[in-house]
Amino acid sequence: MSTQKALYLLELRGKFSVKDKDIPEPGPGEVLVQVHSTALNPIDWKIPAYGMVVTKYPAILGLDAAGVVTKLGAGVSDVSLCDKVFYQGIYDEHRATFQQYTCVPAELVAKVPSNLTFEQAATLPSALATAAFGLYGPNTKENLGLSAPWAVGGRNKYAGEPILVIGGASSVGQQVIQLAKISGFSPIITTASLDNEAYVKSLGATHVIDRNAPLTDLPDTVARLAGRPLLVAFDAVSYADTQNAAYAALAPGGKLVLVLFDEIDKDKLSPEKTVVHVFGYVQRDPELSAFGAKMYAAATALIEAGEIKPNKVEIVAGGLAGIPDALERFNKGVSCVKLVAHPQETV
Ligand SMILES: NC(=O)c1ccc[n+]([C@@H]2O[C@H](COP(=O)([O-])OP(=O)(O)OC[C@H]3O[C@@H](n4cnc5c(N)ncnc54)[C@H](OP(=O)(O)O)[C@@H]3O)[C@@H](O)[C@H]2O)c1
Repeated sequence: MSTQKALYLLELRGKFSVKDKDIPEPGPGEVLVQVHSTALNPIDWKIPAYGMVVTKYPAILGLDAAGVVTKLGAGVSDVSLCDKVFYQGIYDEHRATFQQYTCVPAELVAKVPSNLTFEQAATLPSALATAAFGLYGPNTKENLGLSAPWAVGGRNKYAGEPILVIGGASSVGQQVIQLAKISGFSPIITTASLDNEAYVKSLGATHVIDRNAPLTDLPDTVARLAGRPLLVAFDAVSYADTQNAAYAALAPGGKLVLVLFDEIDKDKLSPEKTVVHVFGYVQRDPELSAFGAKMYAAATALIEAGEIKPNKVEIVAGGLAGIPDALERFNKGVSCVKLVAHPQETV
C-alpha cells in the first residue's frame, strides 16, 4: 500500500477535506509511524478560525500522535519496527498528525508505556513539551531555565518553593502541576473550575482557587497560601486578565511563563520581574530538539511510575473526517479533557 488518507485544510480560513496522499518515506534518522490516535489542540482550531501560523496551503494540521513504527530510515538503531510510540509532529506535509502515517525523528519519540492506551498517550506530547520547555527549557528568552527533574540533581530541587499555575485543568496546566510536584515545588497553587478541584489535586495541586473568583483578589490569596515570596508562576491560560493577575502575584525576582503573547499592562511592568513566552514545539530548532529528546527519554518511566498522568480522553467519532466538527468545540472551550481521533477509522 502506498497511499493513505489525510485531512487537508484547503486554503486560508478555508474548509477541511479528507483526501488520498502518498505515504511518506522516512529520511535518515526518521521513522514512519502508523497513527492510531491523534489528539486535537486549540491551535488546530485557531489556524482555520484566524488564519494564523500556517502560510502554505493546502495544509495538514495536527501535532500529537501515538501509533506503531512501520518503517525505519537509514541509521535508526534505538527504535524498532512495531514499537508503540508517541510524539509531537510539526505542521508540514510529512510530519503533521491529521493523517494515517507520519514521519518523525527517531530521537523524538517516547515508547508508549504498558499502562497507557494509544488514546491516552496521544494526549501528552504537546502539553508535556510546553510545560517542560516553559519550566526547564534551554532558551532563557522563552523558558525559565530551571533544572529538569531528569537532569542530575533536578528531582526535588525546588522543595519548599511555591509555584502558581493558572489553569490547572488545561492540558498544559495539568502537566505543569505534575512536573512541579516532581521538582519538589510546594505549595502548588492553581486556578480551576471547582468541578475540577479534586482532579487537579489528584495530580499534585495543593490549593485550588476558583477560576471564577475575582482575579483582583488573586495576588492576596496566593500570598496567603504560598507562605513565602512567589518566584515562579506559569499561566497556562494567558488571557490578558490572567496574565496581569499572575504577574501581580509574583514577588520581586519572580518569573512568569506565558503560553500566548504578552498582554501585561505596560505601566505595571517591573524590572525586577521576568516574563517569558514559551513555544512548546520540539522540532522547531536543534537546541529544542536536544532538550525534547531528553524529555521524551525520561517520559516513559515517569508515566509508568504514575508521576505523569495523561489527560482524560474523549473520542472523536468518524476518524479524520470527524476532526473538523470536533475542532469547533474549542470555540466555547473544553473542560479538563482531550479530544482524540482515530485516523485509521477514516473511510
Ligand atoms: N505557546 C505554546 O507553545 C502553546 C502550546 C500549547 C498550548 N498553547 C496555548 O495554551 C492554551 C491552553 O492550551 P491547552 O491545550 O492546555 O488548552 P485546553 O486543555 O483546551 O484548556 C481548557 C481548560 O482551560 C481552563 N481555563 C480556561 N479559561 C480559564 C481561566 N480563565 N482560568 C483558569 N482556567 C481556565 C479550563 O478549566 P476549567 O475546566 O477548570 O474551567 C479548561 O479545562 C491555549 O490558548 C493554547 O493555544 C500554547
